[in-house]
Amino acid sequence: MSIDLPIAVDRGKSEPLSAQLVGQLRAAMGEGRLAAGERLPASRALAGLLGVSRTVVTEAYEQLYAEGWLEGRHGSGTYVTDGVAAPRPLRPQPATARTVRTTASPHEIDLRPGLPWVGALDTPAWRRAWRLASGMPPQQRQDPHGLPGLRVALADYIRRSRGVACPVDGLLVTRGATNGLDLLAATVLRPGDRVGVEEPGYQRARAVLAGRGAELVPCPVDEHGLVVDGLPGDLRLVYTTPSHQYPMGGVLPVPRRQALLAWARRTGALVAEDDYDGEFRYDVAPLPALYGLDPDRVVYLGTTTKILTADMGVGWLVGRSGLVGEIARRREELNDRTAVVPQDALRLLLERGDLDRHVRRMRGEYARRRDVVVRTLDGLPLRGDTAGLHLVVDVPAPLARRVVREAAGRGVLVETLERYHTGSRRASGLVIGYGSAAGAAELRKACEIVRELVQGGGK
Ligand SMILES: Cc1ncc(COP(=O)(O)O)c(C=O)c1O
Repeated sequence: MSIDLPIAVDRGKSEPLSAQLVGQLRAAMGEGRLAAGERLPASRALAGLLGVSRTVVTEAYEQLYAEGWLEGRHGSGTYVTDGVAAPRPLRPQPATARTVRTTASPHEIDLRPGLPWVGALDTPAWRRAWRLASGMPPQQRQDPHGLPGLRVALADYIRRSRGVACPVDGLLVTRGATNGLDLLAATVLRPGDRVGVEEPGYQRARAVLAGRGAELVPCPVDEHGLVVDGLPGDLRLVYTTPSHQYPMGGVLPVPRRQALLAWARRTGALVAEDDYDGEFRYDVAPLPALYGLDPDRVVYLGTTTKILTADMGVGWLVGRSGLVGEIARRREELNDRTAVVPQDALRLLLERGDLDRHVRRMRGEYARRRDVVVRTLDGLPLRGDTAGLHLVVDVPAPLARRVVREAAGRGVLVETLERYHTGSRRASGLVIGYGSAAGAAELRKACEIVRELVQGGGK
C-alpha cells in the first residue's frame, strides 16, 4: 500500500521533527490528498526514508491517533479514519487492451524495462485534449522555454506531485528527460569535462553526455542508489536517478541526498536529477524531489514518458533561472524545440485534472502488477521493488545470460544488468519491467517462466 504525497522534515527548523510530520500529514488529510481509508506506511519504513528515528514517526502517529485522524486495524497497520478526510479515489477501470509495442511480436511477452502501459490511455479525456490542441493556430515564433500556459500548469504539477516549489521562470519545456539532459550538457559542458554517471546506469544518458564531449566517470551505486562518499572532486556534473535508481531500483535516503548536495556545493559541480518515474512509489510516501533541497545546484529533469507515453514527447527541465535562461539561448542556437500541439494537449490534461487522475490510476495498476511479479517470483532475491516500473532479480551473470536466452525461446523477452554497465562489472542479475505487458495474467505467465528458469539453473 502507498500514500502518494511527498513529505519531508527539515532539521534546520526550530519546530520538532514529529510536529513537522504531524503538520504535513494533517494538512494532506485535510486537503484530501491523503484519503479516508488509505494506509500509512509502517513507522520503521517511513523513518528510514526520512532519515529520522522511528520515535519521531511513532510520536507523530500517536498524536494523529489522539486527534482522531488515524485508526489502527488490528495487526494490519495504520489507516486514515473514515469520515475525517476526503473519500478514497475511485478504483481504476480495467485497462482496455490497446497497446502498441513494435519490437516484441504478438506472441512474445515483453518484460524489458522502459515502457509504461499505454492501453489505459484511450480515454475520452485523452482524445479531447488532442482534438482541442490540434485546433491551435500555428505560431509565428516559439518561446524556447515552451508555451507559457503549459509552464504554469507544469510548475503547479511539480509542486503538488513532487513536493517542491518550482518558479515558472526556472522551468523550460523539453521533449523529455533525455532532451533536457542534452540541452543542459550542450550549455554547461566544455570538451573533456568530467561527468559522473551512475554505474550501472541509464545508457541513453551516457550516450547524450558523451555526445556533448564529456569524459564519463562511472560512479558506483548500491542498494540505496548513488554512493556519495568517494565521488571525485573534479566533476563538472553528476547525473543521478535518486527517486528510483535506474536500473537497480534504490531510493536515495535523505542523509545521502544531503551529503550529495554538500559535495556539490564544496566542489562546484551541478547535479542532474532524472526523475523519470518519481510519481510511482508503492511502500511509503515518495520523497520530494532532490531539487527542492538545493535549487541552485540541482537541475531537475521530468518527462511524460513513464506517466503517459513516450509518444507524447514532452518533458521539463527546472533549475535556477539564470542557468535556465542560458539553456534557452543555447537551445535557440541549436534550433531545438518541442512541438506545440503536444505541449498544448499536455496543458489541457493538466488543467482539467486528467493527468493527476491518470497517474493515480496507473499507480494502482502498477502496484497490482508489481504484486503479481513479487508473488510469482517469491523466493528469488529481488531488489528495487518499491517504486517505478521495474525490479531486479539478483542472479549471477552466467545464469542471467542463460535465462535471457532460454526465456526468449519460450516467448518472454527479458534483459540482464550487463548492458547497464560501462566499467568493470559489479552487479549481475535480470531486469524485469512490468509496464508494458498486457495485464496481470500475461505478467504472471511470463514471471513463472523466469522463475522456473532461474530455479532450474537456466534450463
Ligand atoms: C532512467 C530514465 N530516464 C529517462 C527516461 C525517459 O526519457 P525521455 O523523457 O527522454 O523519454 C527513461 C525511459 O526509459 C529512463 O529509463
